[in-house]
Amino acid sequence: MIRLSSVSKRFADGTVALDGIDLTIPKGAVFGIIGRSGAGKSTLLRLINGLERPTSGEVRVDDQVVNTLREADLRPLRRRIGMIFQAFGLLANRTVAANVALPLELAGIAPAERAARVAALLDRVGLTDRADAYPARLSGGQRQRVGIARALATRPDILLSDEATSALDPETTRSVLALLADLNREMGLTIVLITHELEVVRAICDHVAVLDGGRLVESGPVDSVFSGTSEQATLALLGDGQ
Ligand SMILES: Nc1ncnc2c1ncn2[C@@H]1O[C@H](COP(=O)(O)OP(=O)(O)O)[C@@H](O)[C@H]1O
Ligand SMILES: [Mg+2]
Repeated sequence: MIRLSSVSKRFADGTVALDGIDLTIPKGAVFGIIGRSGAGKSTLLRLINGLERPTSGEVRVDDQVVNTLREADLRPLRRRIGMIFQAFGLLANRTVAANVALPLELAGIAPAERAARVAALLDRVGLTDRADAYPARLSGGQRQRVGIARALATRPDILLSDEATSALDPETTRSVLALLADLNREMGLTIVLITHELEVVRAICDHVAVLDGGRLVESGPVDSVFSGTSEQATLALLGDGQ
């Protein structure tokens, strides 16, 4: 469903963030991407929704070649790809409900349908009673639930998660991951999840890819990568996590 072929990314200052990446992410997977800080994880994620373009190679989502789409054609693609971040990215001057409504406003959904969809989304993430609260009054876990509801507003079939639980305590992390796992099961949502925390991968991913210095070290089912690896970069991450 998502396929990167010979993808490299060099930034204007000469930094090579990704170098010859070949990676397939199957539909319906919960696919983890791990690696040290600076390994190229966020850059890889941003190629999938066209926020960055590769210097060479091809990024495909189903039949669409993302990297050659014009800005106008990226908009419908981004409606089917939600994204959540470590910093949540909520607007401080909008209530919870208004934050979740924002992508629906941008998509031109009429107010009545918007309100119904926002109510259903808030119900799904367990925040109905905080609909009129402002983000500053929420806990970190609640903020990320708002981020998830907002990311799902346009009914995407892909969710990109960039260190979404890295600012949360372990218990809150577990509850957010449980929500993501449920969404994957219920809706067949494909989740591409970047993290530097191995426990996160162990908790919900079925596949994992290891990036190091912009290169793909290995990828495969979580169990076989974590228990069978002989790659130095993977062993170093496993060592850190224990
Ligand atoms: N816009 C940019 N311009 C120049 N270098 C960048 C830019 N974005 C990221 N980089 C560099 O690319 C490399 C990979 O970054 P990133 O994808 O953010 O890694 P990660 O998410 O794994 O920490 C790093 O060396 C980073 O400094
Ligand atoms: Mg990053």
